Amino acid sequence: MEVLGDAEVLAERAADLIGDALREKPNLSVLVATGHTPMATYAELALRGLDASRLTAVQLDEYLGVGEDDPRSLWGWMRRSFVEPLGVKQVVRLGDAPDPDEACRRYESEVAALSGIDLAVLGLGPNGHLGFNEPLCGPGARTRVVTLTPASLASNAAYWGDLPVPSRALTAGMDVILSARRIILLVSGSHKRDILARALREPPTPEVPASWLQGANTTVLADRAAWGGAQGRAFP
Ligand code: GLP
Repeated sequence: MEVLGDAEVLAERAADLIGDALREKPNLSVLVATGHTPMATYAELALRGLDASRLTAVQLDEYLGVGEDDPRSLWGWMRRSFVEPLGVKQVVRLGDAPDPDEACRRYESEVAALSGIDLAVLGLGPNGHLGFNEPLCGPGARTRVVTLTPASLASNAAYWGDLPVPSRALTAGMDVILSARRIILLVSGSHKRDILARALREPPTPEVPASWLQGANTTVLADRAAWGGAQGRAFP
């Protein structure tokens, strides 16, 4: 766990860690969150002139029934914020098959063909979700279709202005996330303070999916607003 001064310092630190991982392994496979929190990190990374031509970017989640030309497409957001600015050439998409169950199966086999995920860059949902692994969620949950909770519908509404938030989504399973060789969880803002403290302090529980990260190789980067100095049990 590292507590950084503010969102800007957090983004620089996260970009340092991701850049180091890429230099060490040019064919890195990275699970890439969208959402507001990692955007400054991706922008910072893009400024660094790294060679990401051998990196594989793996999609974390997608709304169900939203095509890639829809402004709400999470693939579109990932492409604009990460894939194009960094010059990424290989991607594993989630939700690009007409049948959602087939899309999940295809995704799981493509991730397996990569020999898993080297690095997962994640944000923290206001209800403790990771991707769209909504509470209640165990550590073995597979890649699947989920129904969004009211908390996620509310937080995601902030992304899309007047457009409605789709009620269902596909998410990388908790099993995919937790088997990543390294996880970086980015948490910024006082509205995440309570849920971050629960994720860190409570014994892992299906009620707070992010609490399963305690058993994984996780680095939490939080800004002061999100951590606030609470006495928590440290992550590894
Ligand atoms: C969203 C997404 C997650 C994201 C999280 C945090 O609902 N499904 O992938 O990481 O919630 O989002 P934000 O960074 O905007 O707070």
